[in-house]
Amino acid sequence: MFDQFQEVFGGVPEGDVYRAPGRVNLIGEHTDYNGGLVLPIAIDMDTCVCMRETANDIGCVYSTSFDQLATMDLNDLDHPSNTWTDYVQGIMVEIRERGKQFRGFDLLIDSEVPVGSGLSSSAALEIAVANAFNDMFDLGLVDLQLIRLCQSAENNFVGAHTGIMDQYISYHGLAGKALLLNTKELVHEVIELELDDFQLVVIDTTVSHEHENNQYNVRRSECEQALEVINGNDFLPEQLTALSQISTEQLSSLRSVLEGRLFDRVSHVVNENQRVIGVADFLTQGKIEKVGELFYESHRSLKNLYEVSSKELDFLVDFARDYPVPGARMTGGGFGGAIINLVPEGKVEDYIQQATFAFENEFNITPKCFVVNSSDGARVKPMA
Ligand code: GLA
Repeated sequence: MFDQFQEVFGGVPEGDVYRAPGRVNLIGEHTDYNGGLVLPIAIDMDTCVCMRETANDIGCVYSTSFDQLATMDLNDLDHPSNTWTDYVQGIMVEIRERGKQFRGFDLLIDSEVPVGSGLSSSAALEIAVANAFNDMFDLGLVDLQLIRLCQSAENNFVGAHTGIMDQYISYHGLAGKALLLNTKELVHEVIELELDDFQLVVIDTTVSHEHENNQYNVRRSECEQALEVINGNDFLPEQLTALSQISTEQLSSLRSVLEGRLFDRVSHVVNENQRVIGVADFLTQGKIEKVGELFYESHRSLKNLYEVSSKELDFLVDFARDYPVPGARMTGGGFGGAIINLVPEGKVEDYIQQATFAFENEFNITPKCFVVNSSDGARVKPMA
């Protein structure tokens, strides 16, 4: 990175390299903005940034993935451009919102997290950049403050009303572990990742989904609508602050209050929370077949009840079931992106080959396949 920085900016970076990983969510999809449970891992693909301070009011940012240099006037940061630079700009706007200051800078971003594949390249970028700013300009942000700042950047500036899972796991992830995160209390339990002789294989459809295309935000507002209807009817003994407070026993009684579509959304959220608990338990017991069954169930629910899958994702999950591997499901926000698969170690190569072949035949698109391993969350590395 040192050499690249010199090449682009004609000087040397100050301080360290800030690394933050992408993530795979094992299960618990679309529950994080409903106060529910999620079970993500940080993965061994990360985004690294390094920077130096300059004496002007300009931010210069270079991305190696896009091979683009962007300059930002620090006195005029308020306009999103709907490109990757919004993530950086959004962080700066949120820092100022908190009454903190920074000066001009040169910043280099080098990322290996594929963009648009549902592995949260955006959270990796946000956390890495926020950590770098925090140190360079002595902002004094700690843990949750920094995680929340990154989420706000995405919500307010980028305009994607995402939950907190991605930023949280990119910051707190641990190698060899998944985190069972309660998104209402913002506390997590560390779960041993006992995958036995199985590997986690990601197949990226490469059909890009954008949070900004609104369907994600539509789902979010449907959940808010459902909450309002339930509370408005005083239907449950207490007013709810999040859909995840609804128990499975209460769920069926809501059928008469909520119209079909809203009931389906709520139904997904309530049952997905139960599946998260199931997967966490089965994982610690090394019961991979059981974990896999819940993966397939989760996918069915995301497809039929929450309606966030796509024909490409469904094709791959059907392929997984027919091959067969013990479990597969879409991961992340949906509307494209990737699926995860639990594949026996000895079969990984054959599985990838066959899935690729079938997908190419069906869609004339070559998917991207990789084995992912768990890794630690955000870290600072000395400049090599
Ligand atoms: C995206 C969001 C997360 C979460 C998932 C769906 O990845 O960034 O907050 O809502 O979708 O589970």
